[in-house]
Amino acid sequence: MGFKVQLNVFITCGEKVEEKKIKLQDKLLDWYKVHHRKLPFRESHDPYKIWISEIMLQQTQMDIVLPYYERFLAAFPTVFDLAKATEEQVLKLWAGLGYYSRARNLHKCARALVDEYEGKFPEEYQKALKLPGIGPYTAGAVLSIAYNKRIPAVDGNVLRVYSRLFNSHADIGEAKNKKAIEKIIQELIPENARDFNQALMELGALICLPKNPQCEICPLTTTCKAKELSIQNDLPVKRKRIKNKKIPVAVGIIRKSDSIMITKASTALLNGLWGFPIAEGETEDAAKAKLLSCLKNILGHEPSKLKIIGNSKHVFTHKTWQMTLYEINLPETLKEEIMYQYEKDKSADLKEEIEWVTRNNLSKYPMATAFKKLLKVF
Ligand code: ADE
Repeated sequence: MGFKVQLNVFITCGEKVEEKKIKLQDKLLDWYKVHHRKLPFRESHDPYKIWISEIMLQQTQMDIVLPYYERFLAAFPTVFDLAKATEEQVLKLWAGLGYYSRARNLHKCARALVDEYEGKFPEEYQKALKLPGIGPYTAGAVLSIAYNKRIPAVDGNVLRVYSRLFNSHADIGEAKNKKAIEKIIQELIPENARDFNQALMELGALICLPKNPQCEICPLTTTCKAKELSIQNDLPVKRKRIKNKKIPVAVGIIRKSDSIMITKASTALLNGLWGFPIAEGETEDAAKAKLLSCLKNILGHEPSKLKIIGNSKHVFTHKTWQMTLYEINLPETLKEEIMYQYEKDKSADLKEEIEWVTRNNLSKYPMATAFKKLLKVF
């Protein structure tokens, strides 16, 4: 279902979009006024305190965050205190919260705020996004809660509320869908952006739960499309991602005087493209051993002098090659012998076509990006 259609859920009920929007906003804000949790960072609109709380709450539950938040604010009451601290002091207070890059970025961000903004969190979304550790969600949360800006703050809770409310089956794990949802939420934000954004989050945290949502006490139950269709437990849609597996790969850069050996791949992944001889392995050592055994089939003997000349990485959709480049320098005479051996022994592991080309001529061969990148390494 397209996103335009989803918003038009308002129209199909026979009422004007604006009226429907206002009703939804009012119901949510009225509920929030009465039922919101009294949290320490809700006692003021201080952007510093809100920013710290939002960073801590990423990937971490509220009850775990609260004691850390209190200790952190006691140690660093202002952005200037945080900027002055050492990274070690910051990490010590973070110990146990996990995802330590958050703490390192928090510290870097405090220093950037002091250096570039006299310690004041910028009010402009684009400026906020440039700060270390600040993505669209955090920028939206800080700017809406601290400065009451009408900017969406769409986290997992809000994506769930949205999907159910509008019967959206868009995969919330896909960046383009998340962007489209942010746009629609933006259109829904009223004057009171700070409470509205927090109300959406709060509804997701307290009522619109992942399993067994409390529809009986939900302020939006009569507006909710998923509830109407009794499919609230089937939403949101989040398809399982195939894990991108890291695979060690040994690459042979085989030189003979001024030429380099290239091979034409016959694998499904790189079919028909030129590259260098490679071997995948469970470990780096296993990949190297496999490459050596392949090369033995071509060279007639295992090359003795291997030198690591660099590393590279290439991300495919389902796997990442972690490449180690091994340089092998062959004596002049070997080239003809190799070609002879290769032609003779078609049962060799490496059945691909091979060619010897000079470095300058490499660009004439269609090469997979994974290999093109290597040209910058050696
Ligand atoms: N989760 C992250 N930030 C939050 C906030 N401000 N209110 C409720 N839940 C949240």
